[in-house]
Amino acid sequence: MCGIVGYIGHRDAYPIIIKGLQRLEYRGYDSAGIALFDGSDINLSKTKGKVEHLKKKAEESMSLKGGLGIGHTRWATHGIPNDENSHPHISNSGDLVIVHNGIIENYESIKKELTKRGYNFHSDTDTEVLVNLIEEVKKKEDVKLGHAVQIALSEVVGAYAIAIIDRNKPDEIVVAKLGSPLAIGVGENEFFVASDASPFIEYTNNAVYLADEEMAIVRLGKEIKLRKIKDDAIAYPNIMELKLNIEEIEKGGYDHFMLKEIYEQPRAILDTYRGRLNVDQGLIKMAGIDDNLERFMNADRIIIVACGTSWHAGLVAEYIFEDLARIPVEVEYASEFRYRNPVITDKDVVIAISQSGETADTLAAIKLAKANGAFVFGVCNVVGSSIARETDAGAYTHAGPEIGVASTKAFTTQITVLTLVALKLAKEKGVFPESKYHEFLIELESIPSKVERALESNALVEIIAEVYKNATNCLYLGRGYNFPVALEGALKLKEISYIHAEGYPAAEMKHGPIALIDEQMPVFVIATKKGHYDKVVSNIQEIKSRKGKIIAIVTEGDSQVKELADHVIEVPETIESLTPLLTTIPLQLLSYHIAVMRGCNVDQPRNLAKSVTVE
Ligand code: M6R
Repeated sequence: MCGIVGYIGHRDAYPIIIKGLQRLEYRGYDSAGIALFDGSDINLSKTKGKVEHLKKKAEESMSLKGGLGIGHTRWATHGIPNDENSHPHISNSGDLVIVHNGIIENYESIKKELTKRGYNFHSDTDTEVLVNLIEEVKKKEDVKLGHAVQIALSEVVGAYAIAIIDRNKPDEIVVAKLGSPLAIGVGENEFFVASDASPFIEYTNNAVYLADEEMAIVRLGKEIKLRKIKDDAIAYPNIMELKLNIEEIEKGGYDHFMLKEIYEQPRAILDTYRGRLNVDQGLIKMAGIDDNLERFMNADRIIIVACGTSWHAGLVAEYIFEDLARIPVEVEYASEFRYRNPVITDKDVVIAISQSGETADTLAAIKLAKANGAFVFGVCNVVGSSIARETDAGAYTHAGPEIGVASTKAFTTQITVLTLVALKLAKEKGVFPESKYHEFLIELESIPSKVERALESNALVEIIAEVYKNATNCLYLGRGYNFPVALEGALKLKEISYIHAEGYPAAEMKHGPIALIDEQMPVFVIATKKGHYDKVVSNIQEIKSRKGKIIAIVTEGDSQVKELADHVIEVPETIESLTPLLTTIPLQLLSYHIAVMRGCNVDQPRNLAKSVTVE
């Protein structure tokens, strides 16, 4: 949560920081702030609300000059979103200014101690406590800022990515990281600091990603110096060349990132299997699996850990792994797994799924699994993210940046990667008939064009959205491979349109939810030809007898459900295991249109943030 940006160099810092904050707004958008050194002092502006508000306020009220600055866009943890709690925070002397992403868990006790020593606090945040702790250490120990940061951070418990500047030393920014991401962009005699590379990608492709418990002093005219916070060991920065380009992080003519990302799915799925799937040779090449085949072949079971949409992709993967590769799978909410003393052995393979690669609970679940000897395989989208680095091996989804808070292409590309893994293991184990395997590869290769066809339902989906946009509750039903799609459809509607929605396995309806059905209740049913079609048709009959409104996702050419449903949306035919890649498309479009019609902020829904880097 929260986005941080910093700049030091020969350009004006203000436009770089403001634009950078706008790109990072997906991380949190309760409030925003900026601090700039104008050559003699630090000027600061901060406000509740979006970066746009900050821009207006800063341009009206402060000098925008200077080649050194830091900025922040916030997702509140300690203290409500208001001007005082917004970052940057200033130390009591006015010398130090900090931006922080994360949580300092022991801030109360530190605050008490600092209060006794005469410090005053103007906000309810843990961050203001941290900047004053650094100030206190700096004075007491008579050390430079970098050293003070190091000592202070050894005293705190929690997670952080920080950038801090000192008005008496305006040629440097000190940064540090534990648990929250931080990248340093390395330009020609200039440096950028940010929560991800998007704020600086148009200036430089060279970046250093800080590892946990590392800090750096980014000083003009000097090379970056990395240090371990705890033991002071010097680390050498690994400067990576980034492949990201600016078009990928802009809206490209779409009204919202979410819509752009929905439409990117044919390309994203293709990029996911490109270079891995070779239909002619009947091969799947994945270095992360090939290099660790023994671990997978000897695994007693696979445990999947994830949160939110990634957890739904994990549920689809459970069906695929058990069905194709005959490996037992358990799918766990990372947040539960990490705290419930699970039985994990060195015969387990844990697959951690995360778009951002920064989700705190998933990261903690990985650490727990590793500590118990399990082999951990990551499925991430963000290259170089904490989870990608923490896992023993992995496969990137190559979906490209996902900016909309509601995950769309992350879901379909995660399923694609996991399908490749399952198919590869099925073949290695010899448990999947060769002819079916080949048919599967051909079908998988055709998915991008079938997703294109599923996207053609957009105009119809918009009409259906108009009919149900004022619903207060919705049910989503699916069976087998499409049960997780029902959960995902409900989550999409809830998070961006604020309509209450629940997903269920269709057959569970009789065990309770059917009581909710009346003529007001829209029920979205996934009823594709493959799988438990007849049984789902019976469920549809039951809804109809109770006057529920039925919106069915069916296979092209279906006539039986058409007779019963109020609306049908067709998707192309495919093999059952691949249906989630198609049935999810109209449900994504539906939530998008309903949210737009209700005037909701589609890309930045209330109370949410793109990556949940705190518990
Ligand atoms: O980055 P991750 O995949 O680890 O994120 C997990 C969830 O926070 C995420 O999927 C969330 O549920 C989305 N807002 C759903 O659209």
